Amino acid sequence: MGVEVRVEGLTKSFGGQPVWSDVSLTLPAGEISVLLGPSGTGKSVFLKTLVGLLKPDRGAIWIEEQNLPRLSERALYQVRKLFGVLFQDGALFGSMTIYDNVAFPLREHTRKSESEIRAVVHEKLEMVGLLGAERKLPGQISGGMRKRAGLARALVLDPRIILFDEPDSGLDPVRTAYLNQLIIDLNQQTGATFLIVTHDINTARTVPDNIGLIYHGHLAMFGPREMLLSSTEPVVRQFLGAQRIGPIGMAEEKDSDELRAEAEAGVELPPLPAIPLQLRPSDGRPRRAEQPPGQWCAEHGIVPPAGSFRNADGSAWQPDARQPDEVLR
Ligand SMILES: Nc1ncnc2c1ncn2[C@@H]1O[C@H](COP(=O)(O)OP(=O)(O)OP(=O)(O)O)[C@@H](O)[C@H]1O
Ligand SMILES: [Mg+2]
Repeated sequence: MGVEVRVEGLTKSFGGQPVWSDVSLTLPAGEISVLLGPSGTGKSVFLKTLVGLLKPDRGAIWIEEQNLPRLSERALYQVRKLFGVLFQDGALFGSMTIYDNVAFPLREHTRKSESEIRAVVHEKLEMVGLLGAERKLPGQISGGMRKRAGLARALVLDPRIILFDEPDSGLDPVRTAYLNQLIIDLNQQTGATFLIVTHDINTARTVPDNIGLIYHGHLAMFGPREMLLSSTEPVVRQFLGAQRIGPIGMAEEKDSDELRAEAEAGVELPPLPAIPLQLRPSDGRPRRAEQPPGQWCAEHGIVPPAGSFRNADGSAWQPDARQPDEVLR
């Protein structure tokens, strides 16, 4: 099963320049969370801090009773084995074949024989649709293929926590749809805890159980998907609605003159778009952390945007006929 990650008061700066401060959130065990934020707000830095590649100035990262920033190099090396990371640029070794890249963590961290390694590498390459490209070098395949090779490598040690840094950037829409389905299915099969950084609003709206938004050096909001998708908080609404109107400008924050001009011109954000249903595993079973659509809104007295929780054919979602314990397994 997955592992809970509890972040408390995390602060990071480079040479006195703060990236973000006082970030607190919990990635629930086995759930999928998405992290959003304008470019340059420190999402990649956050992922690298979580795995211990960067040291925070302050704050704690609790994983299985251990506080990562306080661990010795040796203890950190052990905890890192819980993680699988897909870096933004794929981070493949350019002079190694795809096969050797994917086999690398197994050769480094396990005592598996070469034939055992071959079985694992083939399984993961098949999963990401790259069988046949094993002998190629990273420079000889497309950007999307490199992403998928990076994903295969992130999976070989059967991680309990998987961090994805923009798995969908540079992928065509069809591949993005396949990748999102693959992410849901992986979560269903492994029960690992997922954190996905993405700029794809459709991914952010349909894939996760939880959404967070980093903006202007802080975590603006983090919580259940329905909370963010029904939020009227201007920054959240602007970002999840992909709007120009709102506090976020081209160079991150609009100045007060621009905001005043917007207010005086009476420009308003359009109504909140309908909340879509979550993507389901391809075996047709409910997701691990699935809640009935609309439950969070109902529990918090929030009326979801008009047209929310519709099936693909436009019909209203109906509760599952199965018993709740069967649904939750
Ligand atoms: N090793 C480093 N040393 C100094 N500054 C860094 C380092 N890594 C990142 N930064 C700075 O930290 C800030 C956040 O960078 P980061 O890559 O995390 O942004 P991001 O949110 O992932 O952006 P994008 O959406 O474009 O990928 C940037 O201003 C960047 O220049
Ligand atoms: Mg980044």
